[in-house]
Amino acid sequence: MRTALITGSGRREGLGFETARQLAAEGFHVILSARKLSQVEPLAAELDEEGFDASALELDLLDRASVAAAARQVEERFGRLDVLINNAAVMVAAPTVADKDLDELMLEFQTNVVGTWSVTQHMLPLLVAGGHGRIVNVSSGAGSFWDPDYGLVNYPGFEMDRFGEMPITAYALTKTALNGLTIKTAKELKGANVLVNAVCPGVTATRPGTEQWARPAAESAKGVVWAATLPDDGPTGLFFRDGKQLPW
Ligand SMILES: NC(=O)c1ccc[n+]([C@@H]2O[C@H](COP(=O)([O-])OP(=O)(O)OC[C@H]3O[C@@H](n4cnc5c(N)ncnc54)[C@H](OP(=O)(O)O)[C@@H]3O)[C@@H](O)[C@H]2O)c1
Repeated sequence: MRTALITGSGRREGLGFETARQLAAEGFHVILSARKLSQVEPLAAELDEEGFDASALELDLLDRASVAAAARQVEERFGRLDVLINNAAVMVAAPTVADKDLDELMLEFQTNVVGTWSVTQHMLPLLVAGGHGRIVNVSSGAGSFWDPDYGLVNYPGFEMDRFGEMPITAYALTKTALNGLTIKTAKELKGANVLVNAVCPGVTATRPGTEQWARPAAESAKGVVWAATLPDDGPTGLFFRDGKQLPW
C-alpha cells in the first residue's frame, strides 16, 4: 500500500486533514502528523473507523529531533514514503514591513521555510527508496510574483478586497521562499523519479467565519491530491492551483 505523510494535519477543519481523507480514499495509508500526538490520534482513529487506513505521528517542524524521530518511525514501520505533503505553516496576521514584529517574522520563516526544508531533508531517503516519490509544497498565490489575483505585484487589490487591514506581507514572502525551495528540490531530485511541485490551494475556509468568501477545504484539497498522484512522466518544479499552472 502506498504511504502519504501530511504535516500539520491535526485540525479537523484544516486543509491537511481533508487532503489526508482524500488520499485515503485514493487507497493510500495516510500518516497524519501534528506537533502533539493527541491532535492526530482521534482523527486517525476516525478515518480508520470509516474504513480507511491511517496512523498518527508526532512531528513538530520547529524541533529537529522531532522531525528526525518521525522519519525514523516511518522508516521502521513502512521502509519508504511515497508522498510527502508539506502542509504545515503559520500565518501571523500582522502588518507591514515597517511594523512587523521581528520575532514573529522569525517564527514564520522558521516554520514555513526552515521547518519544511527540515522535513523534506529527513524524508528524502524514504521518498527516493519508494521509487516514485511525490512532494507537494502547499504554497500560496500570495507568494508568487505574477499570480494575477494574489501575487506580490498585484497584492494591494487583494488586500483591499479581502483582508482589509490585514496585510500578510511576511507570510507571503515565506511562500515565495517555499516556491524557490520547490524549484531547487525538484532539480536535485531529477533522476530519482521524485516529482516536487508547489500547489496553491486557493482561498479556503479553514477558520470559522471565512465561509462567506472562501471555498470549502474539500474543493481546495483536490489540487493537492492531484499533484500528489501525478504519473511518473508528470511535471516537476512547477506551481499549480487546481491542476493548472500558475506563474511564479
Ligand atoms: N486557508 C487558505 O485560504 C490558504 C490559502 C493558501 C495557502 N494555504 C496554505 O495551506 C496550508 C494549510 O492551511 P490551513 O488553512 O489548513 O491552516 P491551518 O489549519 O492553520 O493548518 C496549518 C497547520 O500547520 C500546523 N503547524 C503550525 N506550526 C507547526 C509546527 N511547528 N509543526 C507542525 N505543525 C505545525 C498547525 O498546527 P496547530 O493546529 O498545532 O497550530 C495547523 O494544523 C498552509 O500551508 C497554508 O499556508 C491556505
